[in-house]
Amino acid sequence: MSLSTEEIMEISLDLVGWDEVPADSGIHVSADDVETALVGIDLESPEIQLAEREGYDLVLAHHPPGGDPRVNFAPVLDKQVEFMTAHGVPEERAEEAVASLRSRMKHAGHSANYRHDPSIAEHLDQPYMNAHLAPDEIGRRRFREIADGLDDDASVGQFADVLGEIPEIEEAITNVELRLGERANGLGEVAIHHAAGTNGGSEVARAYFDNGVDTVLYIHIGAGDTATLQEEYGDTEKNLIVTGHIASDAIGMNEFIDALEAEGLECDTVSGCDIGR
Ligand SMILES: [Fe+2]
Ligand SMILES: [Fe+2]
Repeated sequence: MSLSTEEIMEISLDLVGWDEVPADSGIHVSADDVETALVGIDLESPEIQLAEREGYDLVLAHHPPGGDPRVNFAPVLDKQVEFMTAHGVPEERAEEAVASLRSRMKHAGHSANYRHDPSIAEHLDQPYMNAHLAPDEIGRRRFREIADGLDDDASVGQFADVLGEIPEIEEAITNVELRLGERANGLGEVAIHHAAGTNGGSEVARAYFDNGVDTVLYIHIGAGDTATLQEEYGDTEKNLIVTGHIASDAIGMNEFIDALEAEGLECDTVSGCDIGR
């Protein structure tokens, strides 16, 4: 039993019911007969060489390492707007909140050496691909289910505790962190802002808070954004929960890996996908 790289991408999409490959995901070196894969969150030139040396049929990464998924990543940021407007943020305000992030991602993609890792895979004739948005969407739905399963009067602390019971988060050495707010605060309306390319920083959190959302969930955030939000909302009951980057990415990747293994693909996990397995 073997799968092509296209079929593997298809499986990632089927898990979330999507038809189109997202802009941040792609096949860098294709293959028709994949039986074994080395799977991780970040797999780049050194890991491509490792996989080639050890005879893996495929290197399957999460984060976009190069090519189109890196250069033309910005369209996935449309998801940021979609998630905000679903919580009642006016579209114009949502676009404004994501404008600087869009610009930064476009600049970063434009300046990146998008050939670095894919060219090494080509040089070694090592099949190589990455799936980003779809596995993250699996994780987002898991977080959403947990939020929706709590009582209306649940506290932020209770939410953080149940999130901490997700196997990947429980096993990881990172913890669920409360970057803004107190455990005793009411959870209120929760926005799960994950599977949108990257976190929305202070600007997206602000757009949520100013439009009736009480608690925002990110999987990671920078120190500068935390400081900004603390300064602006530190004496309110608004909350920002951060679940941990790699543990959270592992949630969706693990479900993807399970589906691949069910199709007969032999997967070895490293670089974060080894968490919770
Ligand atoms: Fe991710
Ligand atoms: Fe990530």
